[in-house]
Amino acid sequence: MALSLLPFLLLSSLFLLNQPLSTTANIHRATNFRSELISERKTSTNPPLTTKFEVTKPIKLPKTKPCSYFLLQHDFGFTYGQPPAFANYTPPSNCPSQNFTTIVLELKGKSKGIQYDRIFGVWLGGVELLRSCTAEPTPTGIDWTIKKDITRYYSLLMTNQTLAVYLGNSVDSSRTGVYDLSLTFHFYPAEVPHKSYEPKLGNSVSGYSSVADLILPISRNLPLNDGLWFQIQNSIDKQSKMFNIPQNAYRAVLEVYVSFHESDEFWYTNFPNEYIAANNLTNTPGNGAFREVVVSLDGMTVGAVWPFTVIYTGGFSPLLWSPITGIGSFNLPSYDIEITPFLGKILDGKSHEFAFSVTNALNVWYIDANLHVWLDKKSVKTEGQLLRLNSLPPVVTPESNFTDLNGKFLISASRSISSTGWVRSSHGKITTNSIQSLNYSNIIVVGSDGDLTTVNQIINFNDSVYAMLPSSSTYSIRSFKRFPLSLYFRYVDQGNGFNSFVTNITLGFNEEKVKDADIGVLASSLKNLQDGHVVSVAKGNLQVSRLWSTKQAYQYDGTEFCYFRNVTSTNDTILYDKEGNTCSKKI
Ligand SMILES: *[C@@H]1O[C@H](CO)[C@@H](O)[C@H](O)[C@H]1NC(C)=O
Ligand SMILES: *[C@@H]1O[C@H](CO)[C@@H](O)[C@H](O)[C@H]1NC(C)=O
Ligand SMILES: *[C@@H]1O[C@H](CO)[C@@H](O)[C@H](O)[C@H]1NC(C)=O
Ligand SMILES: *[C@@H]1O[C@H](CO)[C@@H](O)[C@H](O)[C@H]1NC(C)=O
Ligand SMILES: *[C@@H]1O[C@H](CO)[C@@H](O)[C@H](O)[C@H]1NC(C)=O
Ligand SMILES: *[C@@H]1O[C@H](CO)[C@@H](O)[C@H](O)[C@H]1NC(C)=O
Ligand SMILES: *[C@@H]1O[C@H](CO)[C@@H](O)[C@H](O)[C@H]1NC(C)=O
Ligand SMILES: *[C@@H]1O[C@H](CO)[C@@H](O)[C@H](O)[C@H]1NC(C)=O
Ligand SMILES: *[C@@H]1O[C@H](CO)[C@@H](O)[C@H](O)[C@H]1NC(C)=O
Repeated sequence: MALSLLPFLLLSSLFLLNQPLSTTANIHRATNFRSELISERKTSTNPPLTTKFEVTKPIKLPKTKPCSYFLLQHDFGFTYGQPPAFANYTPPSNCPSQNFTTIVLELKGKSKGIQYDRIFGVWLGGVELLRSCTAEPTPTGIDWTIKKDITRYYSLLMTNQTLAVYLGNSVDSSRTGVYDLSLTFHFYPAEVPHKSYEPKLGNSVSGYSSVADLILPISRNLPLNDGLWFQIQNSIDKQSKMFNIPQNAYRAVLEVYVSFHESDEFWYTNFPNEYIAANNLTNTPGNGAFREVVVSLDGMTVGAVWPFTVIYTGGFSPLLWSPITGIGSFNLPSYDIEITPFLGKILDGKSHEFAFSVTNALNVWYIDANLHVWLDKKSVKTEGQLLRLNSLPPVVTPESNFTDLNGKFLISASRSISSTGWVRSSHGKITTNSIQSLNYSNIIVVGSDGDLTTVNQIINFNDSVYAMLPSSSTYSIRSFKRFPLSLYFRYVDQGNGFNSFVTNITLGFNEEKVKDADIGVLASSLKNLQDGHVVSVAKGNLQVSRLWSTKQAYQYDGTEFCYFRNVTSTNDTILYDKEGNTCSKKI
């Protein structure tokens, strides 16, 4: 009974635990689970696909030949608690052109053996470029490739820096997989030479849509034997970093990277503490199912992140994520918080502090950020003032009703953060208003004395930034994100020692974006939905059969291009795969 009540623990990936203290029993089961899975794959009639992939749109590239630079190859074996792998980075020097339209990070991964999924990060000069999870290996070997558009880090990429890659792995006789990663950057010259990077959208609130002139790391300083992320271990833990910005800044955006692990890997399934206590449950992570990352600047709350529920490649059942991996698992989303309204508070040439905390957190959250700063080339000093800041704590309404193991737990939450401030630069006196508006609902139902668990969650995450000139021209960037998640776990004792376990998962990432300027509108819409099922039958501790399937529908509609892909897999074989560039609607 306890087994089915805690499917999350049993099937969790636990990939960060090296020498875990409290969850050893679960790790043991998870390890068994994996080796059985692999032996079943070996005897399958369909050879498993060795290349794992995440469904995503292609990167829009110019028609020029890229200058490509191989940066680093490293075998990550005994790397847990060790320094990251380093390489010296120098900007392209022998490339015929020095002006690039697009810069792409390409990461190739390979592994063979048995191993947990592992989180890793890539940093350039302490600025995080990629947060990612490995694919899980098999004894015959697997590989995967990630491509990420890193053009927004342009200014950083034009300077000498230290590149760092941290992937904490550990290898022993039962976990044999070493992760072999290689990293290459591709620089695509502009189609029209002698023209530096320029965004497609011109606008009258000048400078608002280009890339930043300076990117400051809000991460842990080297040297250290770990990743450069901060580790948030509980609900009162706060991690911070001092920084200085040049006094001629006129815009700033904080890009936040977030991932959740161990007791909070599946935070959206965590039960209320009173339920755990009343049923004497052990090794069951609690604090309920609501989490928010809070970002503060000199003690003021400047933004919040209600993160997308990335499920790593070992999450719930590794079968679900092979060969099609979970949304965002190879390239975790980062979240932008507009800091421009606060510039007036930090343009004094002194040091200021960004801090991160996570409401209700359990060990452990990995968080860091990059501060993108735009500089006024025509002045040495800009000035500004924060006019208004409205940020009340979230309104969280938990309801729980249970008798013994059966119960229903509801949480709804909402909050908004709005800041307004002006900055005077050679671009004029621009007033910026940034609004985050978020709401959340989560319903967990436990039935059949713990043999049935369902989770239904929705996060709505809206961000808007309005920049206004006195002449009344306005530039705006608005993003509407919606993250639905639905989980179903059912354990059935079928008699004669047989039992079955069903896992169904629906996971969606939807985002509509609109950028308005006097000159035009740039808009895009993304609908990305995954649907996965696993049925496993066991006799006692012995697996009798497992079958699984994943279905994904991806539709991106943009002003510049559209892309769709529908793909279905069963038991590691692709059954249906269709992609194209038709739009689903007129943008
Ligand atoms: C960057 O590094 C290269 C190679 O080490 C060196 O030749 C160059 O002088 C450096 N540039 C700067 C600005 O430090
Ligand atoms: C890059 O573009 C700038 C103007 O945007 C131009 O002055 C410069 O010559 C270009 N550099 C190269 C190497 O083409
Ligand atoms: C929990 O433990 C307490 C103390 O050992 C015991 O009195 C109680 O009956 C237990 N409750 C359940 C639901 O097992
Ligand atoms: C709590 O659950 C019980 C059993 O499902 C139900 O009868 C009762 O109405 C519920 N109470 C509330 C306040 O929802
Ligand atoms: C987000 O924006 C959409 C579209 O305008 C709106 O329907 C939704 O209510 C908003 N949600 C929140 C939490 O503000
Ligand atoms: C979020 O807010 C919108 C508008 O207030 C409301 O329609 C919607 O039901 C809310 N959604 C959730 C998940 O609470
Ligand atoms: C779970 O998925 C299976 C396979 O698609 C389906 O037959 C079943 O109805 C699903 N159950 C629920 C409750 O979604
Ligand atoms: C998947 O595997 C199960 C159990 O081995 C088998 O019954 C089923 O036919 C397989 N499906 C496909 C499409 O190969
Ligand atoms: C892709 O799947 C979605 C959802 O199942 C469906 O609405 C759409 O028509 C499919 N598109 C294509 C091109 O098959």
